[in-house]
Amino acid sequence: MTKETKIEVNARRVLSSGNSMLYGHFIEHFHRQIYGGIFDPTSPLSNEQGFRKDVLNALKNIGTPIVRWPGGCFVSNYHWEDGVGKREPFFDKAWRVEEPNLFGTDEFVAFCRSIGAEPYICTNAGTGTAEEMSNWVEYCNLKDEGKYAKMRQKNGHEEPFNVKYWSIGNENYGNWEIGAKDQKEWGRLVLESAKMMKRVDPTIELLAASISDLDWNINLLKEAGDFLDWISIHGYWDRLHEVDNPSPYETCMIYTLEIEEQILKTKYILGSLGYLNKIKIAFDEWNLRGWHHPNVHRGDWLAEDIIASRDRNDINSTYTMADAVFNACFLNICLKHSDVIGMANFAPVVNTRGAIFTHADGVVLRSTYYVFELYTKYMGDKTIDTWTSQNDFFEVNHNGKTYQVPSIDVIATTKDGSENLRISIVNRHPDQKRIVNINTNIHFENGTLYSIVGSSKDAYNDIDQPDNCKTIQHAVKVNTHEAAVEVEPHSVNILVLE
Ligand code: AHR
Repeated sequence: MTKETKIEVNARRVLSSGNSMLYGHFIEHFHRQIYGGIFDPTSPLSNEQGFRKDVLNALKNIGTPIVRWPGGCFVSNYHWEDGVGKREPFFDKAWRVEEPNLFGTDEFVAFCRSIGAEPYICTNAGTGTAEEMSNWVEYCNLKDEGKYAKMRQKNGHEEPFNVKYWSIGNENYGNWEIGAKDQKEWGRLVLESAKMMKRVDPTIELLAASISDLDWNINLLKEAGDFLDWISIHGYWDRLHEVDNPSPYETCMIYTLEIEEQILKTKYILGSLGYLNKIKIAFDEWNLRGWHHPNVHRGDWLAEDIIASRDRNDINSTYTMADAVFNACFLNICLKHSDVIGMANFAPVVNTRGAIFTHADGVVLRSTYYVFELYTKYMGDKTIDTWTSQNDFFEVNHNGKTYQVPSIDVIATTKDGSENLRISIVNRHPDQKRIVNINTNIHFENGTLYSIVGSSKDAYNDIDQPDNCKTIQHAVKVNTHEAAVEVEPHSVNILVLE
């Protein structure tokens, strides 16, 4: 007999006004993300600007609100001036490959405009300086004052780009990052960079690379807190950079339980330092699976191995229903904490571990793509009070420990100030359906259930099997303020009640 779960929704209690920037993305100069991913001037599938039209359409379809670029680790040795006007390839010391340097600031902004996304630029705080960062703001945002705005105009862009979101650095706390900083150095550099960047354009929103660590943030916020609008944190749970041995479905379900800790830690740090409601959190790189790039931080690895090992990120069979379920749980936790998390950027969006895979004749939409499609189309913009009053747990053994994983994960939203309910119901259970009973304090007449389902928990999409993971929909019978739905195992569902 199918087990039953109960969800209670208090639609009159709004917890936070969500933000569509939670459905943002990230793209880095790494492997096939830019070249052969979004930008491929020689492909018959590209437009006159060199952008792959099928990728643009796929990104428009998931309402991509914001894209972070150009890195990632890449940015910590990237000098933006080399990527505008006359270009030359250069050696990228982060990823130890030649960077063709055909895609720079002008192309990035054009790309964002063509999908209707906000450009978000991450600056070089590794080998770069405060002055270089602020010159980049001049190039993008000043009308015609000074040499950098004039440089942009000379490059064919009369009007400013008005880039609103700028981050100082990427993971500068990590010894893997070029030009890594200690806590004291970081606070000072962020302060001086923020000062100069905001003097160029006081309307920009500034982020700084951070981590859920008290000491790092004490130094950062004491020094530069008053200049910052955001701090950024990153998360990859299935750590595959050295050995590409993707975790099975059940282990990935344990990872869904670990997401919240980092958010809560960072939130409490902001609170204890007096910055709650002043500084928001941007989870500006996240993915269940860390990128595979073995030995990149050592000097002795063989250059000829580099591309073959990075190609492994693009094996489509890696991205199963585990990835879709994880992504939905991640977004649900962000929605739950959307009083403090205002942005999240899936890392990356195209190729590597991305939602979209490109090949010579088209794209494959991986299971994770459908999660963004479902959430951007059907979830609402306000998070409301929701809880499970009855749930069950399944056991997962991992590294000698036993974990109890709740089958159902849930979060409810309303859309556009109306009392329509949009409830995300994720069934983590690997092989059992659940009947979910929903009880709420508002009345509705119709219900529709949109579900991402896979033929098995390990189902994935590929060139010759594009629909193994797909979205289906059906009408749901409702009874004024109650509804009951049956959800498939390992599925992501959004129930719309109106
Ligand atoms: O593994 C890829 C990288 O993950 C990004 O470049 C970096 O920001 C993060 O460590």
